[in-house]
Amino acid sequence: MDLHTFAAAEGSPEPPLLARLRLATWQRTRHGRLMTDPHTGRVLSLVSHMVRPHTAIELGTFSGYGTLCLLEGLAPGGTLHTVERNDELFGLHDAHWSEHPRGGDIQRHHGQAMDVLAGWPASTPIDLAYVDADKESVVVQFEALLPLMAPRGWMLFDNTWWNGTLETAQGPKPDGLRALNDRLKNDSALQVVVLPVGDGLTIARKR
Ligand SMILES: C[S@@+](CC[C@H](N)C(=O)[O-])C[C@H]1O[C@@H](n2cnc3c(N)ncnc32)[C@H](O)[C@@H]1O
Repeated sequence: MDLHTFAAAEGSPEPPLLARLRLATWQRTRHGRLMTDPHTGRVLSLVSHMVRPHTAIELGTFSGYGTLCLLEGLAPGGTLHTVERNDELFGLHDAHWSEHPRGGDIQRHHGQAMDVLAGWPASTPIDLAYVDADKESVVVQFEALLPLMAPRGWMLFDNTWWNGTLETAQGPKPDGLRALNDRLKNDSALQVVVLPVGDGLTIARKR
């Protein structure tokens, strides 16, 4: 058994609502592989419990799996914002989020991640962000997000390993992720650790 298989098997199990959403995502969409995997989801939940965000945001909702994971640690009275441009997914969200006792604390934004960040009120600093939308513009999203983060806010970036292909892969997605990885590790205002979780989950703390 390799370390990833062991790690995925030995932690707390996936909650039943998330298992149902995962199954429904595979049944009702053609792109189930876009969904956050169960082990990464448990890490999102744990980080959210550690941070206890009052304001959290997810860029790229897909079927709403990561949304429910992040919701688990949201502070009482807090709001979890999530941004998705494809409204064909909203039926899946509604059917599953409504089953969660705190589903009403999710605020869904229909549109482009950059538009939501551009209109974000400065009076609402973000305590926790999960960046999981298009990889082509992930650095632009990061630059827009950084000034909106609370002092000592936490950012998570998915797919930063890109299946181990970043040394040679060509194209706008690997270009975007390489630029993100370089940008993050060279910023002394951040503390950055790449967690070998899922497809690479980078965690960055604003000092
Ligand atoms: C990798 S999936 C997100 C997975 C999700 N976070 C989860 O936990 O399962 C990426 C999603 O981001 C959406 N998306 C991509 N680029 C976007 C953008 N610029 N603005 C808003 N949504 C975007 C896609 O439609 C897709 O549903």
